[in-house]
Amino acid sequence: MGKLDGKVAMITGATSGMALAGAKLFVDEGAHVFISGRRQDAVDEAVKQIGRNVTGVQADSANLDDLDRLFETVKQEKDTIDVLWASAGGGAQGRLTEITEEQFDTAFSLNERGTLFTVQKALPLFNDGGSIFMTGSNAALRGYPDWSGRDCGPTGREPAHSTAVPRRPGTKGPGTPGPYLRKQRPAAEFLHTALAAGTL
Ligand SMILES: NC(=O)c1ccc[n+]([C@@H]2O[C@H](COP(=O)([O-])OP(=O)(O)OC[C@H]3O[C@@H](n4cnc5c(N)ncnc54)[C@H](OP(=O)(O)O)[C@@H]3O)[C@@H](O)[C@H]2O)c1
Repeated sequence: MGKLDGKVAMITGATSGMALAGAKLFVDEGAHVFISGRRQDAVDEAVKQIGRNVTGVQADSANLDDLDRLFETVKQEKDTIDVLWASAGGGAQGRLTEITEEQFDTAFSLNERGTLFTVQKALPLFNDGGSIFMTGSNAALRGYPDWSGRDCGPTGREPAHSTAVPRRPGTKGPGTPGPYLRKQRPAAEFLHTALAAGTL
């Protein structure tokens, strides 16, 4: 029996990296998983890799119309969500003295605005006792000169997550993988640990 038998999970930005590993793990644990990504070909490839109990939707998490379409698909196919993992994120690296307005707007439109509205739009479909998991960055915990414009400092993803999380029963705080984690520990191991500890 899997830990997520009969559950419905949505993972944004799940065509590669930690979120794709997570989608595979969730399916192995019994969930039906919806995954999203910006590129249709990458979504199709990820769906192929996961192989079963998965629905892929092309959707840019920085685009609110795309987010509406994403959750409309979940509503039509399953009508409910037990686990939301808002993982879509990223942005150009750049030192404080070099960041352009466009880089700043692109990063914040996805990492902050996109994450907050992903959670907001998921809530009407959410079962009480479900889990909301958001990928943050350890750039919010310590300074990285090259990450000034994407997810560090007082305007980073952490505050947006913190204000979004406590409003729903059973939700969890943001996860902060950090660059070293992916290199030193496989993503699946990180996720297994989080599942076992009840933080996912
Ligand atoms: N890896 C690290 O060291 C590290 C450190 C700190 C924080 N993080 C955060 O952890 C998360 C996952 O990182 P990762 O390295 O595992 O992932 P990754 O391999 O870089 O993959 C990123 C995923 O997000 C999708 N994506 C990017 N922009 C998107 C958008 N606007 N809308 C929807 N999907 C989008 C990508 O799909 P497309 O290519 O199709 O857009 C891809 O599936 C990100 O939020 C990242 O910022 C990672």
